[in-house]
Amino acid sequence: MENSSPLPSGVLLFLLLNVTVSVAAPTAESVYTSFLPCLTNYAKSPDQVSKIVFAQTNSSFSSVLQAYIRNARFNATSTPKPLLVVTPLEESHVQGAVICARNIGIQLKIRSGGHDYEGISYVSDQPFIILDMFQFRNITVDVQNEVAVVQAGATLGEVYYRIWEKSKVHGFPAGVCPTVGVGGHLSGGGYGNMLRKYGLSVDHVVDAKIIDVKGRILDKEGMGEDLFWAIRGGGGASFGVILSFTVKLVPVPEVVTVYRVAKSLDQNESATALVLQWQQVAPHTDDRLFMRLLLQPVSSKVVKGQKTIRATVIALFLGGADEVVTLMGKEFPALGLSKEDCTEMSWIDSVVWWANFDNTTKPEALLDRDVNTASFLKRKSDYVQKPISKEGLEGIWEKMVELGKTGFVFNPYGGKMSEVSSDATPFPHRAGNLFKIQYSVNWDEPGVELENNFTKQARMLYSYMTPFVSSNPRSAFLNYRDLDIGTNSFGKNSYDEGAVYGVKYFNDNFDRLVKIKTAVDPENFFRNEQSIPTHTGLDTGASKSGAGKLSHFSRYWKLMLDVGGFFILELII
Ligand SMILES: Cc1cc2nc3c(=O)[nH]c(=O)nc-3n(C[C@H](O)[C@H](O)[C@H](O)COP(=O)(O)OP(=O)(O)OC[C@H]3O[C@@H](n4cnc5c(N)ncnc54)[C@H](O)[C@@H]3O)c2cc1C
Ligand SMILES: *[C@@H]1O[C@H](CO)[C@@H](O)[C@H](O)[C@H]1NC(C)=O
Ligand SMILES: *[C@@H]1O[C@H](CO)[C@@H](O)[C@H](O)[C@H]1NC(C)=O
Ligand SMILES: *[C@@H]1O[C@H](CO)[C@@H](O)[C@H](O)[C@H]1NC(C)=O
Ligand SMILES: *[C@@H]1O[C@H](CO)[C@@H](O)[C@H](O)[C@H]1NC(C)=O
Ligand SMILES: *[C@@H]1O[C@H](CO)[C@@H](O)[C@H](O)[C@H]1NC(C)=O
Ligand SMILES: *[C@@H]1O[C@H](CO)[C@@H](O)[C@H](O)[C@H]1NC(C)=O
Repeated sequence: MENSSPLPSGVLLFLLLNVTVSVAAPTAESVYTSFLPCLTNYAKSPDQVSKIVFAQTNSSFSSVLQAYIRNARFNATSTPKPLLVVTPLEESHVQGAVICARNIGIQLKIRSGGHDYEGISYVSDQPFIILDMFQFRNITVDVQNEVAVVQAGATLGEVYYRIWEKSKVHGFPAGVCPTVGVGGHLSGGGYGNMLRKYGLSVDHVVDAKIIDVKGRILDKEGMGEDLFWAIRGGGGASFGVILSFTVKLVPVPEVVTVYRVAKSLDQNESATALVLQWQQVAPHTDDRLFMRLLLQPVSSKVVKGQKTIRATVIALFLGGADEVVTLMGKEFPALGLSKEDCTEMSWIDSVVWWANFDNTTKPEALLDRDVNTASFLKRKSDYVQKPISKEGLEGIWEKMVELGKTGFVFNPYGGKMSEVSSDATPFPHRAGNLFKIQYSVNWDEPGVELENNFTKQARMLYSYMTPFVSSNPRSAFLNYRDLDIGTNSFGKNSYDEGAVYGVKYFNDNFDRLVKIKTAVDPENFFRNEQSIPTHTGLDTGASKSGAGKLSHFSRYWKLMLDVGGFFILELII
């Protein structure tokens, strides 16, 4: 078979690929001139189209692009820029954008709140268009039925505020940072400080509206159970454009309690005792209590010029201060919690408090989107399934001090998280996980060398943590996007490549996501660096890698045919 072509296949492929690239490489101008009339054709109100398409030459292009960049690493002149930014105002604009991008054969990146830690909603190595959903921000709260319809471009702060406007005893379990977008957050799982009581955001999604690769608008009934399952944690961007989610509200008490207690290692090792006991208590205590633990290398106040580790417990209790002080006295004496450490407040004020605003800030601050600044940052994630020993912790402190800047956020699981089965949604990290680790390093100056230093530092700490965290797979949280754990190569997107990161994010749920992806987007239009690959060989009973090889082989011949067709076409022209 390999000898059936007149030229050695490698040479032929090389020739043909060169021809294709020179023909197909889109320019900003050619894309603009073909995209605009196409979109106009699909828009219900065509007169608006000229107002929603920003070419690179447009004087507003940079400000529109930068408005939802939330990681300064991807705000550099060297960061690849989209050929167009499209900012739809109505559903038909989204439908048109999908169909037209597909017709032109250009990659479409979807952005809602822009908080992706690796910037993959607005950066690509390949020519691309951004579909920026920030104008889709309507929120309709129905207290009677305890549901809300939230559009993808709404922020979490807006969601919390609009619920609070209507009811003081309802809330929604989602992320802590108010500018995070609904589109990425909910489709990637979504968790916050009510996780132990109510689980993930996706555990409360009851309907959704999505635009598929054919430009169809589908609700839960229209898309079917499989696709509806996939977009609740599998990452929306592999499957279509999320327009909105319908979510069930949850009850919150009129008074909640927050506290923040910090201890340093240089104060008599109390930090180690605190963390040891935290591991025993935080994942098992009353599920109304969420105690996040921050661990940071800081300057010692005891020995000048030295670094030490500071452990900070930040808590939300869905109840009063007396109750939680009594509970902590019994379960967590190493914390030393007193009533003075606690503040009682309304749930919405606790949202403001958790967002680190000062204590005079009004809830209206949650509506502020105009935060056009961000640090340079790198994040990674891990799951811990057995408590880390005293010796283990001491080694970790030493490593953190040595590296100097990378910190941890430990987020306790248990409670509701252990009650939901691991295949109820694509998010698999349920029972058996004590806590999730976020690796966190921020810096304030641009530059390749600094970036390399700090990302390397985070990777070294990640490597050091290997014996303490989950293995086979070493699990990761999709919303803590980390391209270090694997990416697919453009135009290949094989099952085997996808499985490298896919199994870490989704464990046993990965194969079901692949099957759904293959059914709803067989041409793999909706793709990014870590999207779900298509693969038709999953049901054949062949071994995974065997099936993967077969697929590579047939893809190769398909490519040869496609490219050959192009070549012949070129000769005719
Ligand atoms: C400061 C900060 C705080 C955070 N805090 C939390 C937290 O408390 N809890 C938590 O779980 N996570 C948290 N995250 C992570 C956050 O949930 C994810 O980055 C999430 O994906 C962001 O959603 P977005 O819409 O803002 O991001 P975007 O960058 O716009 O999108 C993220 C991904 O989703 C895709 N996507 C976006 N919109 C759509 C859509 N409409 N349809 C289909 N695909 C879409 C994008 O293409 C991309 O792949 C935080 C991130 C930051 C930067
Ligand atoms: C920039 O793009 C916007 C939106 O398409 C449009 O309204 C505006 O006229 C453009 N401005 C220039 C200078 O081209
Ligand atoms: C991006 O850079 C521009 C200047 O080029 C700056 O005004 C803006 O604040 C930056 N945004 C982020 C998120 O870094
Ligand atoms: C949001 O709601 C307003 C008022 O009902 C409506 O005019 C607008 O079209 C809606 N926006 C979107 C993107 O659905
Ligand atoms: C350290 O602990 C010892 C014994 O628990 C105590 O006597 C001492 O006062 C502590 N020192 C500091 C600085 O807290
Ligand atoms: C707010 O913070 C200030 C300064 O940190 C403090 O003095 C004040 O007591 C706080 N007020 C409330 C209501 O907590
Ligand atoms: C990066 O790290 C190296 C080695 O630790 C150090 O020598 C160098 O000064 C650092 N560069 C910057 C810009 O911080």
